[in-house]
Amino acid sequence: MIWETFDTYEALSERGAAIFLDAIREYPRIVLGLPTGRTPVGMYDRVVAECSREYRCFSEVTTFNLDEYAGIERDHPGSYYAFMRQHLFDHVDIDPSRTNIPNGSAPDLKAECVRYEELIATAGGLGLTFLGLGRNGHIGFNEPGTPFNTRTRVVELHESTRTANADPFGGYVPTHAMTMGIGTILESSRIVLLVSGTGKENAIERLRSGKVSTDFPASALWTHPDVRVVISTAI
Ligand code: GLP
Repeated sequence: MIWETFDTYEALSERGAAIFLDAIREYPRIVLGLPTGRTPVGMYDRVVAECSREYRCFSEVTTFNLDEYAGIERDHPGSYYAFMRQHLFDHVDIDPSRTNIPNGSAPDLKAECVRYEELIATAGGLGLTFLGLGRNGHIGFNEPGTPFNTRTRVVELHESTRTANADPFGGYVPTHAMTMGIGTILESSRIVLLVSGTGKENAIERLRSGKVSTDFPASALWTHPDVRVVISTAI
């Protein structure tokens, strides 16, 4: 695990964008795993700005988002589908048919999760996956206690996670979500964990300790051979 710490959120975002852009330039057919949340917004802004100057930046890139809320329509302002359109997809030359997000309004959510795993496999697996870090150590929506061999599935959200993510909902936050499992994430060839935001000091220290435990989902990353942790202690 390689650790990079930056003084500002801007510097973290610059670094994330550099890793992102280098990866798609080096291998234009890359399969990316992508996060939502406040942390990656600055990275996406910079990727969008850079790609607006380039011809065919995203044309062969395939993406899979980590997670999505269950029981809401795609055009709900709190959906991760809406988030991704707002922050990335609507501003770059990505082929919409190459963007994948679990469908939170699918009639059969379990079948949707199976379909999602199959899509990742058919695409050749994840090449580079960016993650954010929840205050309780969650990655994607894999809350504490999640076994490390889990696949994409429906999960119940912790109250603390629902509170932390309440902003775009203006009231009722879904109780469930679909998330790639920790096993799914660990199969990505490379992983970059982006960490910023208040109240994550304890989570950072637990990760840094190197103690691997299902009580702290992000600690699963210690079992992966190619992980970079990019941190900004200030937001
Ligand atoms: C949500 C997402 C996670 C994300 C986390 C941290 O729970 N499902 O994938 O990592 O938020 O978000 P933030 O960057 O806003 O702290």
